[in-house]
Amino acid sequence: MTILVTGGLGYIGSHTVTELLHNGFEVIIVDDLSNSERFILENIEKITGKKPIFYPFDLKRKELLTQLFDAHQIDGCINFAAFKAVGESQVKPLDYYENNLFSLINILQEFKSRNISNFIFSSSCTVYGQADEMPIDEHTPLKTPESSYGKTKQMGEEILKDFAQAYRKKVSLLRYFNPIGAHPTALLGELPIGIPNNLVPYVTQTASGIREKLNIWGNDYPTEDGTAVRDYIYVVDLARAHVAALKKLMAEQQDTVIDIYNLGTGKGSSVLEVVEAFETANDVKVPYQICERRAGDITIAYANADKAEKELGWKADTSLEEALRTTWEWQKYLESRTQ
Ligand code: UFG
Repeated sequence: MTILVTGGLGYIGSHTVTELLHNGFEVIIVDDLSNSERFILENIEKITGKKPIFYPFDLKRKELLTQLFDAHQIDGCINFAAFKAVGESQVKPLDYYENNLFSLINILQEFKSRNISNFIFSSSCTVYGQADEMPIDEHTPLKTPESSYGKTKQMGEEILKDFAQAYRKKVSLLRYFNPIGAHPTALLGELPIGIPNNLVPYVTQTASGIREKLNIWGNDYPTEDGTAVRDYIYVVDLARAHVAALKKLMAEQQDTVIDIYNLGTGKGSSVLEVVEAFETANDVKVPYQICERRAGDITIAYANADKAEKELGWKADTSLEEALRTTWEWQKYLESRTQ
């Protein structure tokens, strides 16, 4: 079986490619290298002993995508390619809508015209906004996300539901909570460009001295220690969920399938708990200061991931400390590369 993985050199994409190769799938990667680097391809080969076919182009280039589908027999797609910076999406909304939605539609057009099914979409728990009750399951009502980035995820889900219904296709919408960590080999991980927005890359860069202090955005939230709570899921666990979701779609007998899964650990951790876990796991200090809340942040979000466990036989079982240990190993690897 040959799977097209768009954004396959990115953070979650590269881990998923590795898991697909471990599970005997052939992989074709399309990635425009806008937020990734070529050495990741070599590292995937070092880990798996297999070299995926790689096309460096932008999925908005419809003619190149058509040529790719002409050249290969493709059995499914996992679509990671998207812009993902929440803050940037507020100042460049059109770029986000154009990039995230046009590229999605271009692939779906190929699926429609070639009678291909099995499509997995990277969605986000941002589609729930600040949910009224915890934990968040798949029946929790959706709210319009604040950011244009979040709206592209919600619109992507709607496009895929219509696509599955109208053309009798199988799709799986995977709503990620907060992915963290790196591959146990320290050959794959997150590559933040510039100043990181997300918590764990910022913590890591602070521990290594690249940043002076972590800014904790608010300690007056109605949570136990006053800092905001999220569900941090280890990226390799998350990658494995994609393989499980793909296998389930492929085994489905019906023509039309719309699967939706929350992918999280089921456990919430506060910002301060993450900082402490990082310090304990790696025996390093993370200096921090408390600042004003960050605009657009919610108080708390953690998953009820029972549906994924029941239907996919999958569970995120790596501890926060272990995930944070791999992050630190990855940071050391990155620093050794630049020396
Ligand atoms: N935080 C800090 N300091 C930092 C960075 C983050 O205190 O330097 C805090 C945030 O305020 C928040 C928590 O750490 O309370 C997590 O922040 P992240 O930016 O790591 O993650 P978010 O939950 O804000 O965003 C993530 C993804 C988005 C996705 C969103 C869905 O990055 O892509 O979850 O809720 F849309």
